[in-house]
Amino acid sequence: ISEQVLAPIVENRAVAPDHVELIISSAVLSQAEPGQFAHILTPGMLRRPVSFSRIDQENGQVGLMFQIVGDGTRWLAERRHGEVLDILGPLGHGFAAPDPTKPWCLVGGGVGVPPLYAAAARYLHRSRPDVIIGARTADWVLMAQDFKDLGLDVTVATDDGTAGHAGTVMGPLETWLQDHPDGQVFACGPTPMLAAVSAACEGRATAYVALEQRMGCGIGACLACVVKAHGKEHAEYRRVCTEGPVFAAKELIW
Ligand code: FES
Repeated sequence: ISEQVLAPIVENRAVAPDHVELIISSAVLSQAEPGQFAHILTPGMLRRPVSFSRIDQENGQVGLMFQIVGDGTRWLAERRHGEVLDILGPLGHGFAAPDPTKPWCLVGGGVGVPPLYAAAARYLHRSRPDVIIGARTADWVLMAQDFKDLGLDVTVATDDGTAGHAGTVMGPLETWLQDHPDGQVFACGPTPMLAAVSAACEGRATAYVALEQRMGCGIGACLACVVKAHGKEHAEYRRVCTEGPVFAAKELIW
């Protein structure tokens, strides 16, 4: 199910410098799978895809966490309790449940972390993931405490070395892969990070990636979001908005 909903904001949380989480009340959106997204109308601009950071079916609420990167996200960050957002959703294909017989690792970079938190919270009863969070700097490490509150081990990597490992998530991921060559990895973050995760997992762990992609319609009609994938004979295109945003990493041409 997905539809156009008018959903009131319950709370606006500043979670880090230039990063906001809006808690939204919507029974329809709270049916989302982790990794699916909301396509949010910002006046005078295209809709903007934001994946769910929290999915609370019981209370009919979801979280939407994003970085302020331009006029659309700035407008969104200024919305307050009681204001209503025009949202299409939940859209796309999310993360399937992890295989409980295999070790599981979540690898997130920047605003790629929130959908992984939603996946951890949803599937915790099946499997307990190890968590690797990457960010540019300590202030921008997202949701580390949320994962810890689920009782999970969190490894942090920052580009500038201000928290955790100095460098990208790839160092900690390589260590994890050496210890768990038969594991499964769920990743979300910038495309270069996902390409590196895909390459590192090849021949070892099974990797599923949630792509961050610019979108137009969000419903499969405009082809603004396509990526290349391996077809039976030739390369094929996949629409990130409808066939993704979660793909098996080995399906894609990086
Ligand atoms: Fe239009 Fe994907 S955003 S087809």
